[in-house]
Amino acid sequence: MTQSKGTYYITTPIYYPSSNLHIGHTYCTVMTDAMARFKRMVGYDVRFLTGTDEHGQKIQTIADKQGVTPQAYVDNVVDGIKELWKTMEISYDDFIRTTEPRHVERVQKIFMKIYEKGDIYKGEYEGLYCTPCESFWTESQLADGKCPDCGRPVQPAKEEAYFFKLSKYQDRLIDLFENNPEFLQPDTRRNEMLAFVKQGLEDLCISRSTFDWGVPVPLDDKHVIYVWLDALSNYITALGYPGEEHELYDKYWPADVHLVGKEIVRFHTVIWPAMLMSMEVPLPKKVLGHGWLLLEGGKMSKSKGNVVDPVKLIERYGVDALKYFLLREYTFGQDGVFTNEVMLKRMNYDLANDLGNLVSRTVSMIEKYNDGIVPNADESTKKLQVELFDDQEKLAARKAAVATDTDLKKIAVGAAQKVEDYMDKFQFNLALEEIWILIRRANKYIDENAPWVLAKDEVNKERLNAVLHNLAEAIRIVSVLIYPFMHTTSKEIRKQMGLWFADPIWEDALEFEMMGGEQVKKGDAIFPRLDIEKELAELEAMQGNGEPQNIPLELKPEIEYADFDKIDFRVGMILSAEKHPKADKLLVFKIKMGTETRQVISGVAERFKPEECVGRKVIVVANLKPRALRGLESKGMLLFADNGEKFEFVTTEAEDGNAVR
Ligand code: ME8
Ligand code: MG
Repeated sequence: MTQSKGTYYITTPIYYPSSNLHIGHTYCTVMTDAMARFKRMVGYDVRFLTGTDEHGQKIQTIADKQGVTPQAYVDNVVDGIKELWKTMEISYDDFIRTTEPRHVERVQKIFMKIYEKGDIYKGEYEGLYCTPCESFWTESQLADGKCPDCGRPVQPAKEEAYFFKLSKYQDRLIDLFENNPEFLQPDTRRNEMLAFVKQGLEDLCISRSTFDWGVPVPLDDKHVIYVWLDALSNYITALGYPGEEHELYDKYWPADVHLVGKEIVRFHTVIWPAMLMSMEVPLPKKVLGHGWLLLEGGKMSKSKGNVVDPVKLIERYGVDALKYFLLREYTFGQDGVFTNEVMLKRMNYDLANDLGNLVSRTVSMIEKYNDGIVPNADESTKKLQVELFDDQEKLAARKAAVATDTDLKKIAVGAAQKVEDYMDKFQFNLALEEIWILIRRANKYIDENAPWVLAKDEVNKERLNAVLHNLAEAIRIVSVLIYPFMHTTSKEIRKQMGLWFADPIWEDALEFEMMGGEQVKKGDAIFPRLDIEKELAELEAMQGNGEPQNIPLELKPEIEYADFDKIDFRVGMILSAEKHPKADKLLVFKIKMGTETRQVISGVAERFKPEECVGRKVIVVANLKPRALRGLESKGMLLFADNGEKFEFVTTEAEDGNAVR
């Protein structure tokens, strides 16, 4: 390899081990891996960090529900994540878990550094509290005035907490976005963040005392450190900062790139830089926000149960086919829709047809026409240029043939620079497209030169050798260029071409005349052709449409039977419904339950017209303590079914007044 071009530190988000990772996480990690491998190949001293973000309320709640300790819960999920990265041959240099002592100690030191700088103070957190969820919300986070997680009412509450003086860094952050456009890309994200910061920043509450699964606040173990402060620190704690063992930090910080999904750009470009400014630590050079992989039905989400499992796809199609698809199909920075059909077509057309055929045809022809030995450039191409023909027609044909050589070579040796240029901009899809332009050119070259025709007459032997040689060179260059993206396939191709003993060197993609004398050997098809219809049907069945999957629902914490038994549900008939005179969102119902008629108010005026409610038989929580809503009394609550899109009354045919059990 050439001399080191310097260091290159790249990171993925550290994922929540709340459950197994899906294709969206895989997408981000695959991009990071391709970039790390590419940078290593072109001569950088690369450090690639990934890991898991293991603290916080959400993990504690899940573990509680399963009756295990949070540590046992995350240990189990993290094992699976490491296994996935191993299967996918993700070339990370370090995997940090936020529960590791090396991280916990350093996060506490980071907290103290910011504290000693005068940027942390104790105050009171005032917000709207959802008791069952133990979560504070701001007014704007509420959904229909209720807890956005569970839909129940929230109460104003206060708790003692530590705050980070985020507001102090507002001007420096504005300056950062305005004067350092490279810091955050794409530009749309930068404009969003600039607008966000300009609106004004409030100090950030960075401690929690309503649960304890987190890093204890130093000097005050009633509180744990806010999970984002804890998580963001990973990028430097993994390098040994702060502390004695700071060699890696000295060498690799500041990071060249934090690659993150667009939904967490704000944490990485507002909170994280402000923390670093407070610690007087240099900022990362760049934060890149990538888009989401969506399913046709919307965002993939573990709670919707509509995630695509990368493990299943790898088992069927192999690691490299999946990596290729993810890198080739989507445009960096934009959202993209994942469908099985698009994936299968990419695999078939680009991999099995274009690349697979090029290799298998070439290897077969070298075996058939030259005893499996790659012809030398000397005895073929070079001589050809000066060869004279007496027959004008033959001369013209030969000139045309030589022109295809020139074109192929030009594209082949020019590809590396283009790939580098695209990779500098994280345009993985265009980098791969550039390589496929070469692959398709080489396939066309076979058709143009028809080696099987040349092989019919011994007179054409030199030309035939030239053609085979040129194809071998083109494939060798392809094997170099695809190495960062699909190293296993690269190695398989090199093995078939008789180059298997050497790992590819990037600079070799700039040279055309390197082969001659290699013994080729046909292997299995590097990418088998897929029967798309059949695969589609099987994938659909596997992904749940045929064979329903049993994915546990995400529920509120379990309650005792005795708690449930306190609720008196009754059948009620809606006699009338009208808008609340003082609140747009509320409907005031008169409900008859057997002998009693009463008033119940619900926040559903945006869901139903009053007239469509009348006459319905609904379920009422009948013994709920009455309360006043904008001056009118509401006695009881109605039940609705809500899947996030449809919102309906829970209705019954039974007689009003009946008990519901
Ligand atoms: O946010 N499409 O972790 P997380 C594309 N622990 N990328 C997706 C995706 C999708 N549908 N779903 C997830 C966290 N990702 C924090 C990060 S970093 C200091 C702390 C990817 O498990 C994407 O990169 O929710 C996104 O930002 C990340 O996974 C979020 O993973
Ligand atoms: Mg997330």
